[in-house]
Amino acid sequence: MKGIVLNRSLSGQLEEREFDSFLIEDNQVKIKIKSAALNHRDEWCRQGLYPNLKDGVILGSDGAGVIVELGSKVTHLSLGQEVLVNPAMNWGNNQRVQGKDFQILGMPSNGTLAEELVVNADRVFPKPSHLTWEEAASLPLAGLTAYRALCYQGEVKAGEKVLVTGFGGGVAQFATQFALARDADVYVTSSSPSKIEKAKSLGVTSGFNYRVAEWTELANSKVGGFDLIIDGAAGNSLNDLIQVAAPGGRIVFYGATLGNPSHLEARKIFWNQLKIMGSTMGSDRDFNQMLDLVRTHKIKPVLDQVFSFSQAVEAFDRMKAGAQMGKIVLKP
Ligand SMILES: NC(=O)c1ccc[n+]([C@@H]2O[C@H](COP(=O)([O-])OP(=O)(O)OC[C@H]3O[C@@H](n4cnc5c(N)ncnc54)[C@H](OP(=O)(O)O)[C@@H]3O)[C@@H](O)[C@H]2O)c1
Repeated sequence: MKGIVLNRSLSGQLEEREFDSFLIEDNQVKIKIKSAALNHRDEWCRQGLYPNLKDGVILGSDGAGVIVELGSKVTHLSLGQEVLVNPAMNWGNNQRVQGKDFQILGMPSNGTLAEELVVNADRVFPKPSHLTWEEAASLPLAGLTAYRALCYQGEVKAGEKVLVTGFGGGVAQFATQFALARDADVYVTSSSPSKIEKAKSLGVTSGFNYRVAEWTELANSKVGGFDLIIDGAAGNSLNDLIQVAAPGGRIVFYGATLGNPSHLEARKIFWNQLKIMGSTMGSDRDFNQMLDLVRTHKIKPVLDQVFSFSQAVEAFDRMKAGAQMGKIVLKP
């Protein structure tokens, strides 16, 4: 079977490699992958910017497919069942934070960019029936991250003014759709006017171009402060978010695409009684609640482009350039 592995000795850092079919243990299942999807994590791995990298590991945290083999102790799933995979492994029992054994599927363990995936059966869930294979594969990692940031950490409430930054991103489009489903008044930022238009077509009230220097003044005059801000960029743009947060507001950041801020508007944080919180993926409870929300509101991931495995370098390059609107999908 084919898999896309990290190989940092090659110019594209990726290699399509042939494997013998993997053996399964009693508590595992084998899934024939129909679609897999990229997360920025995969691109960080390719760039060598992720801890504990190993060449030869199959990348990919997101996937959906059909169960083709069941371990002898697996009773809650069946052969031929259409499923998706929760890539958050060993979270533990503490809802507030993951345990020390927490891992993400797709590095250092073999991931979803393969024709077959072997995974513990407790990571496997029925595919929501309103989703295509491409949509189902796009949901798990980004949907879970968005759900926890917005609902668990952010405690979003109906009617609140919510800003989601970088709408073109995989997590951001879910945070936006989940906030709309929770009846918030939702705004986005993006570098692209067409992505802002896409957000409006989903029900977002308005959007701001974060590359325009005065976007914070514009947002403050138009909206008057956001109750909750969901961000994956951090860097010095965190200070912009502090400017547009309403007094008593919350900022939840789940990523730092721009790195660490070189300075911080500390006075504004304490004077305005702001809460700044971090969030990473999510617990098993978060995952189940996220799936419920997606099923109840028939939420569909925004898809960018679908690539074949042989076009993996092209697909990763698209993510590196930030050109995507939504999830980039790869098919065996
Ligand atoms: N902690 C976790 O569990 C977790 C989980 C998932 C992701 N992450 C991290 O979160 C970040 C986003 O991940 P992703 O998979 O959603 O990535 P992605 O799909 O590659 O999204 C990147 C998006 O970031 C936006 N962006 C770039 N510069 C920005 C800025 N200055 N201000 C606001 N937005 C900006 C762009 O939005 P526009 O195109 O609209 O301009 C771009 O499309 C990454 O750093 C990733 O490693 C963390």
